[in-house]
Formats: sequence, C-alpha cells, structure tokens
Amino acid sequence: MKIGIDKLGFYAPHLYVDMNDLAKERGIDPGKFTVGLGQDEMAVPPVTQDPVSLAANAAEQILDDEDKEKIDLVIFGTESGVDHSKSAAVYIHQLLGLNPRARSVELKQACYGATAGIQMAKGHIALHPDKKVLVLASDIARYGLNTPGESTQGAGAVAILVSASPRLLDLESESTYYTEDIMDFWRPVYSTTAYVDGKYSNEQYIAFFQKVWKDYQEQTGRSLEDFAAIAFHLPYTKMGWKALRTVIEDAPEEVQERLKNNYQISTKYNRNVGNIYTGSLYLSLISLLENQDELKEGDTIGLYSYGSGAVGEFFSGKLQPDYKKHLQTAEHQAMFANRKCISVAAYEKVFEESLPTDGSEKQLNIDEDPAKICLAGVKDHIRSYAAK
Ligand code: HMG
Repeated sequence: MKIGIDKLGFYAPHLYVDMNDLAKERGIDPGKFTVGLGQDEMAVPPVTQDPVSLAANAAEQILDDEDKEKIDLVIFGTESGVDHSKSAAVYIHQLLGLNPRARSVELKQACYGATAGIQMAKGHIALHPDKKVLVLASDIARYGLNTPGESTQGAGAVAILVSASPRLLDLESESTYYTEDIMDFWRPVYSTTAYVDGKYSNEQYIAFFQKVWKDYQEQTGRSLEDFAAIAFHLPYTKMGWKALRTVIEDAPEEVQERLKNNYQISTKYNRNVGNIYTGSLYLSLISLLENQDELKEGDTIGLYSYGSGAVGEFFSGKLQPDYKKHLQTAEHQAMFANRKCISVAAYEKVFEESLPTDGSEKQLNIDEDPAKICLAGVKDHIRSYAAK
C-alpha cells in the first residue's frame, strides 16, 4: 500500500521586510544577507497571527468536507506553542471543524517535530488505511532585534495531509535517523527568543546530514544518481547547499548539475519567508514541486530534516501521476503577490507587540489582517480566535 503526502498547504503572514532594508539599517553589507545567507525577504507576523492561526490558515486551503470527516489524528509540530499544557492541535481541530472522533496532540523537537509527525502518521494509516492524518508544521522564529540570528527569523505554517494512495508523494519506508544531545540552539521556557551557538549549529547540521545520508546509502544501496532532487530543512537558504556540496563532488557532472539546479528551485519560497522552523523543509518541498516543471511521475525526491538539540533524518518519496494538478500553486503565488513590504521601523514595532503576559485582558484589532483566521485576543487567560 502506498502511504504519503496527499495535499500540501502553506500560509505566511501578510507582512514582510526586505533584507536589503534590514541590512542597511543594521549597518551591514546587504550581500551578507542576500548572498551570504541567501535571504531576500523575511516574513513578519502581526500580533493577530500566532502558530495556531498560521496553521489554521494553511490547513483551511487544502481540506474539503471528506477530508474533515476522515481525519482522525491531528499532529501539530511546533517549537513556539502557545500553551505548556493544552496542545495547539486541539485548537486547530475546533477551528477547522474536524470530526470529533479524533486524536489531537502536539509534538516538539525543534525543527524536526513535523517530520516525526509524518512518520507517526504513516504508521497510523498503515493500521487504518481508510483514515487521514493532518500534520501541521507552524512556527514563529524569533532571535531578537539586532542579534546575529535576526536575519534568519521568519514565520509561517505548512499543512500536510497524509493518506493512503497519496496524490503528491508516496513516502518510502526506508529512512535513517540520528539523535545526539547537543546545545546548538534552544529556548528555555522562560525566554521568548532562542539561544543559539550559530557556527556550531551550522557544523552540527552538516555533521548530522553526513551521518544520516551515509546510513541511508548503506541501508538502500542508493547514491545521489537515484535522486531527481533533494529538499533540505532551510534555516536560511544557503544552509542546505553547504551540506549538499560536502557529498556531491563524487557524483557525475550531470547529476551535480541536476541536484544543484533543483536545490535552487527548492529555495525560492524560503528566500522570501525566512526560517519557519518545523515547516521549513516542507516549504522547500512545496517550492520545488510548484516551481519545477520538469519533475515527473516516479522521480525520487530526498528529504533532509534537522531539529537542533538534535535529531536528523533522511527519507525519500516518489512523485505520483499528475501531482501538479493537486498542488495549490495559484493560491500560494497570489498569497506572495498580496503581501505588504514594511519598513524596518514598522517591523521593530510589530516585533515588540504581544499579548499581555500578566494575565490582563486584550482584544486585538483584526481588521488590518487579511487572513481568514486570526488571533482575536485574550480574556481570563483564554486565547480567542476569529474566522472571517
Ligand atoms: P553571522 O556570524 O552573522 O554570519 O551568522 P557569517 O559571518 O557567518 O556570514 C554568513 C555568510 O555570509 C558567510 O558565508 C560569509 O562569508 C557571507 P559562509 O562562509 O557561511 O558561506 N558574507 C557575505 N557574502 C556576500 N557578501 C557579503 C558578505 N559578508 C559576509 N558582503 C548565522 C550567521 C547563520 C550563524 C546566524 O545568522 C545565526 O546564528 N542564525 C541562527 C542559527 C541558524 O540558523 N543555524 C543554522 C543551522 S541549525 C538549524 O538549522 C536549526 C534551526 O532551524 C533551529 C531548530 O532546529 O529549531 C536554527
């Protein structure tokens, strides 16, 4: 039985900052951001978007009534959850009007959470082939104003529907994964921004890739020649290339060209959004599938997932017949076209806005936010959401 990704939705907030403007304001050569990191724009979430509403907007694009009835497991991968106890999946379940006979949970392991969710979803569908699983990957990446990590912030969500007979990508059973307790990036429960050892995190991202890729080759007997493309977790778009280039040299020239070209295409959306943590790998996959017209049925796509702390995984999938017809390409392009560029001063103001943390009540003005689903406020320590 084939099990894999049946639909993919993506949502980013409607505001962004141009990385050239951010560089100028910080007294940095813009080339460091646009070439050195490979980022052109950075999504900025207004106070009316949190990881729950971002995910609801991504999922709302792809689910029809039959999906809503058949989903009996909701897995929410995030590292910027809104509650230590109640899972974001339960909020989403209600906002989307899903069948109440469902399990709903939140998973955390930095940027790796949604990949764990997808692998668990596969097991669930193997036991219940008539059901569907909704996996959400939603985050707001915050390092703080004027920090070295600031240029790698971002915000957005990907919704992934996992089912039998998937229409996009049949996920193969081979996969290799690796865990080691390291401190490259983390966010203690008392902090709203992440702590990071930037250079060390880059090194570990590459080291984990090399380990799981070596294990995958040994497990499957495959080499780079077997892949049409490889999509990477992209904290910034140069990062995946730094890892890929360490293993590509021995491949034939035409394979190197193909993987390099498809890598560039897989970074198109991420260049204009920034890091969305759990969703970054899947945004890269969406970017590849929606912007590359030469991939065909049966092509093998590799996926490298990395979550600091750290867990890495390499897995793969095969493209399905007519997969192009089942993508949300027009919706995503319209979403990008309708975003609004704001000044660095406006971004800094938005960055400092938040719901009260002292338990007081606040109603938010959602009129300026074009999203269908918004965070509307907090009262009695309870967040409320509004669907327009
Ligand atoms: P930095 O120290 O500001 O930057 O930090 P840099 O000095 O290393 O420069 C970056 C690149 O720009 C370099 O290229 C420079 O040469 C180049 P490289 O040598 O790396 O190829 N450069 C220029 N290029 C063109 N024109 C110029 C110019 N100037 C310099 N004028 C860093 C960069 C990424 C470390 C920082 O932004 C940071 O700490 N970010 C957060 C951590 C991060 O993203 N780590 C990535 C791996 S860990 C991961 O992926 C997990 C994560 O997503 C979290 C999770 O799992 O939840 C982060």
